[in-house]
Amino acid sequence: MTEEEEGSRPGIELSSAGGCMETAAAMCEKRESMTEDGYTTDDPVLSLIGDTPIVEFPQDFAGELFIKLEKENPTGSMKDRIALGMVLEMEKSGELTDGDLIVEASSGNTAGGVALVANRLGYESVITTPQTTTPQKTGYVKAFGSDLVECPDVDSSSEDHYRNTAERIAENRGGVFLDQYHNQLNPEVHKKWTGPELWGQVDDLTHVVCPMGTGGTLSGIGKYIKQKDESVEIVGVDADKSNISSAFYGEEPVEYCTGIEGLGKGSETPTMWFDYIDRVASVDDETAMAWTRKSAEEHGLLIGPSSGAALSVATKIAEKDGDANIAMIACDGGEQYFDTI
Ligand SMILES: Cc1ncc(COP(=O)(O)O)c(C=O)c1O
Repeated sequence: MTEEEEGSRPGIELSSAGGCMETAAAMCEKRESMTEDGYTTDDPVLSLIGDTPIVEFPQDFAGELFIKLEKENPTGSMKDRIALGMVLEMEKSGELTDGDLIVEASSGNTAGGVALVANRLGYESVITTPQTTTPQKTGYVKAFGSDLVECPDVDSSSEDHYRNTAERIAENRGGVFLDQYHNQLNPEVHKKWTGPELWGQVDDLTHVVCPMGTGGTLSGIGKYIKQKDESVEIVGVDADKSNISSAFYGEEPVEYCTGIEGLGKGSETPTMWFDYIDRVASVDDETAMAWTRKSAEEHGLLIGPSSGAALSVATKIAEKDGDANIAMIACDGGEQYFDTI
C-alpha cells in the first residue's frame, strides 16, 4: 500500500441482499453503510464490478432466452465478483487485514480478478497458475503487479500442482490463501450478489443455465433463486470428460480432459452446492466451440467457449418450451479466445 492510499482507502460497502450484516468495529473506517445491491465500493475501478447487462439472444425460439454478459466486469469475467466479495468478507471476519499477503491459485479468470482487487486495495499478492494458462489470463496478473508463479501442469496430487503450490506459499510466507476451490465464500458471494441481480433482470424466470468449474457461480445463484421460487430449474453445464456430472449423478469418475477453459473439474469440490441444482448437462468440446462460433458469426454475440457449451444447452430448452424464460450466464467473452475460436 502506498503512503497516499494508507488510511484513506475509498469507502466500501458490504451488503447482503435480504439479510442483515453487522459492520465490525474494526472495519468502520473502511465500510460506511450497507446497500441492497450486493458489494459496492467507492473505488472508481472496483465499482465497475457487477451490475452486468443481460441481452435477449437474437434468435427466435418457442421460449425466451437471455444472456447475462459477465465479460462486462473489469477483467472480463464473473470472477471479479468473488475476488472482491471474498476479500471484503475475509476482512470483515478478520481473516485478512491490511499488510497481509493474498495468495490465490487459478487456471484462468480468477487470477485477473484477484490481481485487480489486491492492486486497488493495496495488498501484495501472489497468483499461482498452471503453465498452460494463456497470456490473455496471466497478462492481468502481470499488469496489475501481482507475482505470477507458473507451475507445471501436473496431477492435483503432486506437490508442484498450482493449488498445492499456493497453499505452500501462503504457509511459508504467512499469507492468506483465498482458495476458491474450497472457500464457501465463493458460492456465498454469488448468492448475495449475482443471484439477486439476475432475479431483478428477468421477469417470470423459469430456468438458469450456467457453466460449472468450481460450481461457485451456479451454486450461489441457484440457492438465491430457489429461495425466491423453488420451481425455477437450475441447470449446470459440465464438460463431457469431467466429473461434476458424474459426482452429481453418482456415476463412476472419468479421466478429466477438456480444452474448454473454466469448464468442468476432475472431482467434486465443496463449492458445488448440488442441493440447489436440478440437473447437470455434459457438453463435448466440439459442440461448445461450434456454439461459440455460431453465436459470434450468426448473432454478433462474442462469448467464451464455456458459454458456448451453456448456449448449446440453453437453446435446446428454448426450442422446446414455449413458456420458458431462460437466463444463461456467459462467464466471459470471446475476446480472450480469438486464437482458438
Ligand atoms: C470461462 C469460465 N467459465 C466457467 C467457469 C466456471 O465458473 P465457476 O468456477 O464459478 O463454476 C470459469 C471458472 O473459472 C471460467 O473461467
